[in-house]
Amino acid sequence: MSGTAPWWRSAVIYQVYIRSFADGNGDGVGDIAGIRSRLPYLKSLGIDAIWINPWYKSPMADHGYDVADYREIDPLFGTLAEAEQLIEEAHRHGIRVIPDIVPNHTSDRHAWFQTALAAGPGSPERERYIFRPGRGPDGAEPPNDWVSCFGGPAWTRLPDGDWYLHLFAPEQPDLNWEHPEVRAEFESVLRFWFSRGVDGFRIDVAHGLVKDPELPDLPPRPEPARLGPLVSRDPAREQPRQHVDHPHWDRDEVHDIYRAWRKVADEFPGDRSFVAEAWADTPERLAAYVRHDGLHTAFNFDFLMASWNAKDLRAVIDDSLAMLGAVGAPATWVLSNHDVVRHPSRYGRGAVKQWVANEPYRPEGPLDLELGTRRARAAALLMLALPGGAYIYQGEELGLPEVEDLPEAVLQDPIWERSGHSDRGRDGCRVPLPWTGHSAPFGFSPEDAAAAPWLPQPASWGKRSAAAQSGDETSMLELYRTALRLRRAHPALGDSSLTWLDAPTGVLTFRREPGFIAAVNLASTPYRLPDHTTVLLASGTVEGGLLAPDEAVWLAV
Ligand code: NOJ
Repeated sequence: MSGTAPWWRSAVIYQVYIRSFADGNGDGVGDIAGIRSRLPYLKSLGIDAIWINPWYKSPMADHGYDVADYREIDPLFGTLAEAEQLIEEAHRHGIRVIPDIVPNHTSDRHAWFQTALAAGPGSPERERYIFRPGRGPDGAEPPNDWVSCFGGPAWTRLPDGDWYLHLFAPEQPDLNWEHPEVRAEFESVLRFWFSRGVDGFRIDVAHGLVKDPELPDLPPRPEPARLGPLVSRDPAREQPRQHVDHPHWDRDEVHDIYRAWRKVADEFPGDRSFVAEAWADTPERLAAYVRHDGLHTAFNFDFLMASWNAKDLRAVIDDSLAMLGAVGAPATWVLSNHDVVRHPSRYGRGAVKQWVANEPYRPEGPLDLELGTRRARAAALLMLALPGGAYIYQGEELGLPEVEDLPEAVLQDPIWERSGHSDRGRDGCRVPLPWTGHSAPFGFSPEDAAAAPWLPQPASWGKRSAAAQSGDETSMLELYRTALRLRRAHPALGDSSLTWLDAPTGVLTFRREPGFIAAVNLASTPYRLPDHTTVLLASGTVEGGLLAPDEAVWLAV
C-alpha cells in the first residue's frame, strides 16, 4: 500500500449493524455502548474503519432507515455525547468511523413531514416531499404505477385526498430533491457530523434521489433473459447488460447532488469520503458515481451477487477494475450486508443461479453449510487479495450462516408484512452476534440483561462465538485476522493492479507485484499451484502443491 494514497482507496471497512452488534445496556438491542466495548476486538481483527447503520432518532419502521431527526441519536442506541465519545475512542484505536446517511426519504415522524401533513394539499410545506392528486375521476387511483421496494404500491393516500410517494415503506416518504431546502438541509447535516469527526458516510439509496419530474409510469423492463449474466464487455460472453432509462433510479441529474456533497467533504481536513449504495444497470453507470468530482467509492453489488463460478467472478472483477479504473476510482468488494442472505448460505446451495437485483433471493435446494463455509473462506481470500477496498459484514468473520428458521412470530422486517408474508425479508442475516458462552445471549447482552436479544440466536451459536474461535488457527475468525494482518503488511496488497495468470477452467489465479499470487479453485478437481517460495495463507490445507476444490491460497513468489 502506498503511504500517500488516501486511506479509502484500500480500506477494509467493517459494517456494524448496530441493533445486532453488541448490547451495552441489556435491553436486547445493540447500541453505541456495545460498539465502544468491542473496539479492542475490532482493532485486533485488523480493520481500518467501521460503517455504522443508521443510529439517528427513528420510530424504527425500517430499523433506523426511517429518520426522524438527523442530528439526534435514537435513545435505543444512546446519546449524541456517546456517539462523540465513540468517534474519539475509535480514532484512538486507529479505526475510522462512517455513519450511514439516508437522503432519499425521511421518517413520516420527521418534523418536515408532520408539518406537511398539517398544512394540507397545495401547501408549500408539501413541496419538500412528493405529494400528488390521484388519477381517476375521484382521484382514487395512485398518481402512477410505481411500486415500493418492500412490496405493494409506492403511493399512500391521505384522508385529505392527496397521495405521497414512498419507494420503501409508507413510513418512509420520499423527499423532493428539486427543493432547495432539501439540498441545503442535507449539506448542513453532513457538516454537523463531519465537524464531529466522522470520516465519511455511506449513502443509502444513492441512486434514487432524483425522480423524473413528470412522474411517468414505469417503462417495460427487458426480459430477465435479455439482461444476460452480470457482465458486459467481452462479446464472447453472453449478451451485454443494458441500461434502461428509469423514472426514479439512477438518473443523470443525481450526480449534481454529489458534486455539491464532495465540496462539503473537501471543506474538512483528513480525506473524508463517501461510499454510495447505488444500484446501476451496468458497471459504466456505476462508475459515473465515483468520478473525481463526485463520490469516492461505491459498493460493488455485482461481486456480491455473482454465483460461485469462476467465469462470472472473473468477468465481474475485470469489468469492475476496467470501468472504475477508467474514472480513476478504486474498486470495492463486498460479499454480504444487512440486506442479503449471508454468503456461506448462498454458496452452500447446489444450484448456481443468477441472482437479479430487486428480486428476493430465495434459497433453492438443500443447504450444504460445510461446503458453503469452505467457499466462504476461499471467497474471503479472493476478496482481500483484489485491488481496492473491501467490506466485511459483522459476523462474516465468524462464518455465521443465514438463520433461515426464525419463527414467523419474531420476524420484524417490513418486507414480511408488505409482501403479504410471501417474502421473509432480511431478519435472517441480522441475528445478534455471538461473542462468548454456551447459551443465548452469548455475550451479546450483559449477564443480567432485562430483555432477550431482539431476534433469537440459534442454540448452536456457542461454537461460533468470537471467544470460541479466538486462538483456533482453523477458525474463520483467525483466517480473517491473519488475512487482514498480511494485507496490511504486504506491499502488493491494497490499491494497485493485478495480472491474470494462465490457469485451468474454473480456477482464478492472479499475480500482484511485488511477489504475490492468489489462486482460487472453483473447479471440481485439485489444481497444481504455480511455482512459489512460500504459502502465506490458505483457506484449507495445501498438500503436495495441490489446491483442493473450493479453496484459495496466497503465495509468495
Ligand atoms: C437500503 C438499506 O440498506 C436497506 O436496509 C433499507 O431498507 C433501504 N435502503 C431503505 O432505506
